[in-house]
Amino acid sequence: MTAPVITIDGPSGSGKGTVARLIALELGFHLLDSGAIYRVLGLAATDARIQLDDSDALASLSDSLNLSFPYNAQCTQIILNGASVGDRLRTQVAADAASRVAIHPRVRDALMNLQRRQARDPGLVGDGRDLGTIVFPDADLKIFLDANVEVRAERRYLELIQSGQTVERSAILRDLEIRDVRDRTREVAPLIPANNAYVIDSSDKTAAQVVANIRDLWRARGLA
Ligand code: DC
Repeated sequence: MTAPVITIDGPSGSGKGTVARLIALELGFHLLDSGAIYRVLGLAATDARIQLDDSDALASLSDSLNLSFPYNAQCTQIILNGASVGDRLRTQVAADAASRVAIHPRVRDALMNLQRRQARDPGLVGDGRDLGTIVFPDADLKIFLDANVEVRAERRYLELIQSGQTVERSAILRDLEIRDVRDRTREVAPLIPANNAYVIDSSDKTAAQVVANIRDLWRARGLA
């Protein structure tokens, strides 16, 4: 028997990270923040002065990442090689670098096993762009969480302001739109709902309402 897996894919600001954490907490499952993996890689490459289009160098850097994701009700921690990665991961620079390294097929391949290894007992909740389509095609429940771009930009803005960063609303919206296009149109593992995913629009919903929605789906399938 393999461990049960719930995947929550969607664009930036759809609320998938918060919702994934709340569901993992409720079920006592492990949590996989796959975007953090791409963010860590983007930052590590920048620090090592590796060009973000050098797929060979990026793929070998990917092989050296040892990551885990302990979490509680408030936040998810990212542990890289035994040490916590700080708030740098949540900057626009990290988001942009992540989206750029993520277009390379070799990089995505290199990160596949690291992601699949997280699916262990008692179960896994993962969020990302391609978890339901590519990484866990046999997941027990697949969610595609979306929201209109203005709502997503506002959420991202508030998140960055609350973490003490100085940012402009218009810049956030522009960056989000650029990243959306790159993530949705790339040749490998583009951001699209899996055929058997439930699409939920969170534009007018709180995180608790989305969680309740997913809980109903989970129970209806007899998986609770
Ligand atoms: O979810 P996030 O905003 O932290 O993701 C940052 C970037 O990483 C996103 O713009 C695209 C990339 N990514 C990906 O390609 N595949 C995933 N499963 C998760 C993230």
